[in-house]
Amino acid sequence: MEVVQQDTQIRFNNHEHSRKIKAWVQDNRTYANLGKCANYIPALERANPSQLGICIIGSNGSMVKMGDFDTAFTLQSISKVIGFIAACIDYGISYVLERVDVEPTGDAFNSIIRLEVHKPGRPFNPMINAGAITVASLLGGRNPVEKVESILLLIERIVGRYPTINEEVFHSEWQTAHRNRALAYYLKEMGFLDCTVEEALEVYLKQCSIEVTTEDVAMIGLVLANDGYHPIRKEQIFSKEVARLTKALMVTCGMYNASGKFAAFVGIPAKSGVSGGILAAIPPRGRSGDSPFMDGCGIGIYGPAIDEFGNSVAGVMLLKQISREWDFNIF
Ligand code: DON
Repeated sequence: MEVVQQDTQIRFNNHEHSRKIKAWVQDNRTYANLGKCANYIPALERANPSQLGICIIGSNGSMVKMGDFDTAFTLQSISKVIGFIAACIDYGISYVLERVDVEPTGDAFNSIIRLEVHKPGRPFNPMINAGAITVASLLGGRNPVEKVESILLLIERIVGRYPTINEEVFHSEWQTAHRNRALAYYLKEMGFLDCTVEEALEVYLKQCSIEVTTEDVAMIGLVLANDGYHPIRKEQIFSKEVARLTKALMVTCGMYNASGKFAAFVGIPAKSGVSGGILAAIPPRGRSGDSPFMDGCGIGIYGPAIDEFGNSVAGVMLLKQISREWDFNIF
């Protein structure tokens, strides 16, 4: 069964939309051949590269799920969005932005070059590794366990389930995180970390190892689409200011050094992770039209074959098609 009702508040979407999504998933799955599973984190290499799944949740609670929508995967860089929001909730936007800027880099997500070239500048943005490690270090909590907890609790408030950490993925990356260690030592030397290097890395790599499905990711996207308001739980989870800032960062930096092309040709606030996940938030559209999800929706995608930028190849192509066909482009 490809469309699943899991919650009494969540209704089936209509069959016409499901039929289209089914065809688009089938068509775009072939692009997975052009990518490869991340191999610099050994545990990620074992994913099935031909998988592609999607979940879309509308503001009225309607949901479409298709393909490999229920495969569990780790958030990886999608966690940078949650970490940033949690830090803003814990300390306020201005405190966080004193430590991390909001400028795109045009460099790879794990690049170290700008940190020294712009000495003594703070990390360019919270969506690259340098910025995310800095944000991880300043999360509320006296130790790494409590800091990770602030992210886990935020996810629980959004998805209604306390998520687990995939310990195998965490240990796999912990042992091979040489570049992230280099970034963290540099950040520590420059005075940007609020804790030790090892503590900041533990928080950052654990948040990257939080296990989710496309439905969890779609729910996070839904709340962002609605400016921090959870339309299914009917609760303001975080402020409109935090939501708008986060979406601006997703548009400008969320797909790394492919963010410009993604904004130009897909036009949706989105955040990718090297495990092949994509989080997307489509805000409500004021104009009239016959495309679905006019009240906004969240999208979660999983397709573990990634390109050289770290983005799911089939996932990006699928989002591009949906954006074009259903007029999701925010510009
Ligand atoms: O720090 C890393 O390299 C990974 N834990 C996360 C990187 C990532 O997901 C980049 N995204 N596309």
